[in-house]
Amino acid sequence: MKHKQDWFKELVIYQIYPRSFQDSNGDGVGDLKGVLQRLDYLAELGVNALWLSPVYASPNVDNGYDVSDYRQIMPEFGTMDDWDALLAEAHRRGMALIMDLVLNHTSDQHPWFQSARQSRDSPYSGFYIWRDPVNGGPPNGWRAVFGGSAWEYVPERGQYYLHSFAKEQPDLNWEDPQVRAAVHDIVRWWADKGVDGFRVDAISYLDKHLEALDPGDGRICTAACTNLPGTHRYIRELVQATCAPDHLMTVGEVTCLCLEDHWDYTARSRGEFDMAIPFVSPIEELQGWSPRQMRAQINAVYQKLRLEGWWARFLSNHDKPRQVSLYGDAERHWEASAKLLAALLHTLPGTPFIYQGEEIGMTNIALPEIGDYDDIDTQNLYRSLVAAGVEEKEALRRAQLASRDNARTPMQWDSSSNAGFSTGAPWLPINPNYTAINAAEQRGRQDSIFTFYQTLIRLRREHPVLIHGDYTPVLEEDDNLFAYLRRWEGTTWAVIHNFGPAPQRVPLDRQNLSGKAVLSNCGRSGELEGEIILEPYESLILELDS
Ligand code: GLC
Ligand code: CA
Repeated sequence: MKHKQDWFKELVIYQIYPRSFQDSNGDGVGDLKGVLQRLDYLAELGVNALWLSPVYASPNVDNGYDVSDYRQIMPEFGTMDDWDALLAEAHRRGMALIMDLVLNHTSDQHPWFQSARQSRDSPYSGFYIWRDPVNGGPPNGWRAVFGGSAWEYVPERGQYYLHSFAKEQPDLNWEDPQVRAAVHDIVRWWADKGVDGFRVDAISYLDKHLEALDPGDGRICTAACTNLPGTHRYIRELVQATCAPDHLMTVGEVTCLCLEDHWDYTARSRGEFDMAIPFVSPIEELQGWSPRQMRAQINAVYQKLRLEGWWARFLSNHDKPRQVSLYGDAERHWEASAKLLAALLHTLPGTPFIYQGEEIGMTNIALPEIGDYDDIDTQNLYRSLVAAGVEEKEALRRAQLASRDNARTPMQWDSSSNAGFSTGAPWLPINPNYTAINAAEQRGRQDSIFTFYQTLIRLRREHPVLIHGDYTPVLEEDDNLFAYLRRWEGTTWAVIHNFGPAPQRVPLDRQNLSGKAVLSNCGRSGELEGEIILEPYESLILELDS
């Protein structure tokens, strides 16, 4: 579908993890018909774009991020007719549909790999990355993201293949022009079906520099291959050949080690993505996160891209712990902190991405045994912690905090059995707090988190200052204050968040911030001036007196 240039700046994108959204046939697994049933809920929320995590045929070693046929729908999720109906019904409600593209690797069940693994003479041999053994072992010491060696031996060929993630996810060989042509065809095929854009998975490692294989190199494969020049060239070719002509939206899930990387992936003159989702491992984030650090990072990336780029804003997705558990206080200030995070998401410059369930403040879960976790990454983290000598109880505690399953427990629709997600046994446990935290309880309740999201989405639609306004940080002295101005054509809004559990003094007059309250998560209203005291986790939007 053809779009206007820059249309993506006006989107509010809702990410659906189909497995956990809505089950329509009682098998415990969410599906496309289920998404269809819930489109009116999404319209009520007010979002105007949906991003579907992968729905292609897949053996589900990594829940759909291991694709065995890019042109088929996973039978558990339904049929291509269901998908066509979903596209039509989303469009009818004014919602764009964004598909997830997994192009760094395929499933080992993909026919390309099934053929390639049989013999070196296969027509698909060159589609993957094969190397002869070195001293009877793997070509080097690279490790995979999900643990273990990044190389797997195939006796039929007497060779190893490279897999950056699980061994069931062999990396495609982008150096081969046939691979690039085949991938371009797939993307065009979906574009021709009418999708509006793509989220492009794990795309920073396409180019590998294999001529420099050093047997002593024991790095994680993705670290050894991040952001090489060939990767940028392949991305540019892909986007220009498939998405750019019709302005299909593109957002790349990328690794940004420095500000230059943000630029390289998203500056307009580079011809790569419209926006980037920088990947940060939950473990690192759990250790290093603070409001001050977050603010500094946001400011720096804003400055870097201000003239030529755009930002994907997100606080949660299917790879992260729940945002209110990670950045807020899910125990003592659940509602206020969930709303503060919502206000932050919608008032920063950039396109907001809402991950399913965050609009009702869904929280982390702590499953009692490591065996209860489905996520391949959680299992591997636990195993590697124990192997490194961490006591089992402590390893479980850390795995619980970082687990991607925190975000993948089924959507909490209502307080009936299985939270209204399924009439059968859900594929992953439902968070026991569903009787209190669910959509039915919050829809229509004036002070709910859901209503607060609705209000923010509407404000963004009605006030261009939130979309196009520039951004200037203010009140930077206090660690827990995160405050900024948005300015657009004579309108100035100030947004002030008290990012912490203690009340916070704010001298509005010191920086001429007097004005009228537009929105607060603590019921504050009217004209405000002088010194005010913000409540714990209060967010306040002011329209400043001109
Ligand atoms: C991305 C996906 C993640 C997946 C990985 C491998 O990071 O978001 O869910 O496991 O890529 O495809
Ligand atoms: Ca189902």
